[in-house]
Amino acid sequence: MVNVSFLNLNLERPTVLASGILGLTADSMRRVVESGAGAVTTKSFNTEGRKGHPNPSILPFRHGLLNAVGLSNPGVAEVIKEIKKFKAQCEAPIFASIFGRTIEEYGEVTQQLVEASPDLIEVNVSCPNVRSEFGTPFGDSPQDTAKVTEIVKKYAGNIPISVKLGPHGPGVGRMAKVCEDHGADALTLINTVGPGMLIDIDVRKPILSNKTGGVSGPAILPIAVKSVFEAYEQVRIPIIGTGGVTTAEDAIQMILAGATLIGIGSGVYYQGMEIFRKVNRGIQDYLTKYGFTSPAEIRGLAHE
Ligand SMILES: Cc1cc2nc3c(=O)[nH]c(=O)nc-3n(C[C@H](O)[C@H](O)[C@H](O)COP(=O)(O)O)c2cc1C
Repeated sequence: MVNVSFLNLNLERPTVLASGILGLTADSMRRVVESGAGAVTTKSFNTEGRKGHPNPSILPFRHGLLNAVGLSNPGVAEVIKEIKKFKAQCEAPIFASIFGRTIEEYGEVTQQLVEASPDLIEVNVSCPNVRSEFGTPFGDSPQDTAKVTEIVKKYAGNIPISVKLGPHGPGVGRMAKVCEDHGADALTLINTVGPGMLIDIDVRKPILSNKTGGVSGPAILPIAVKSVFEAYEQVRIPIIGTGGVTTAEDAIQMILAGATLIGIGSGVYYQGMEIFRKVNRGIQDYLTKYGFTSPAEIRGLAHE
């Protein structure tokens, strides 16, 4: 058992299911907890829902995944039902990930969502694979990110919010500070990177129907670790370090860089839900080997 305090929560394990992977129904999220995750994050949703991009929309490659799922979701009303069902079945915290096409939509979805009482609202301002429809992500602009953070905070009541940033834009450290200054209680770092592209050499065309997609998995671990490291030097709010974690060693790097919790997404795609137990056990073994009693004792040590 690797207990960890995060905001007002006490998690039995430091690993969290990242948004977009398995996280849409209460039953699948409960299974993730039973497999060892300390908390789960829903797939991102907005007010009305969205169809997303046609297949192929997820493409495994040697060092990770390329995805252009395109924020498909059934809309806040349906997700509220699933969150309530999850909470009735499971004691582990559930983080609700929201997005909006406009700044106002972030406010609207939050106003509706509070009825479900998620343990955290994760504010996705950084999805790189809807650029062709949505334009530049809000997370690339300090002004837009500040406005989104403020509106979600205004309607979230006493539910804490975590803003999820990508590594793009004017620097993760600066953007982290903007979020903290405008009311974020935590940060989730990072979203997928890019977008990137892979080409079928026989057909001689991009493989994804959307042509481009966000890059995740082992390929982005160094970018994620560096983002957490940089943000940790700028803010005091806790960080959910996400991006490329597939082993306990990866997760420990995130904690040494400054993460309080560890998000795992693509690793589940490759290794199945068993990855949570494996990473938790590896963190525990590392702590024991070096004489530490909790992840908090090693948090940020890479800065000293
Ligand atoms: C198939 C897929 C779908 C995703 N959907 C979302 C999403 O809906 N909202 C979001 O904030 N992040 C989404 N992400 C990003 C992940 O939550 C995570 O930030 C990113 O993949 C890096 O972590 P990883 O390398 O462990 O996958 C998605 C990632 C993948 C691979």
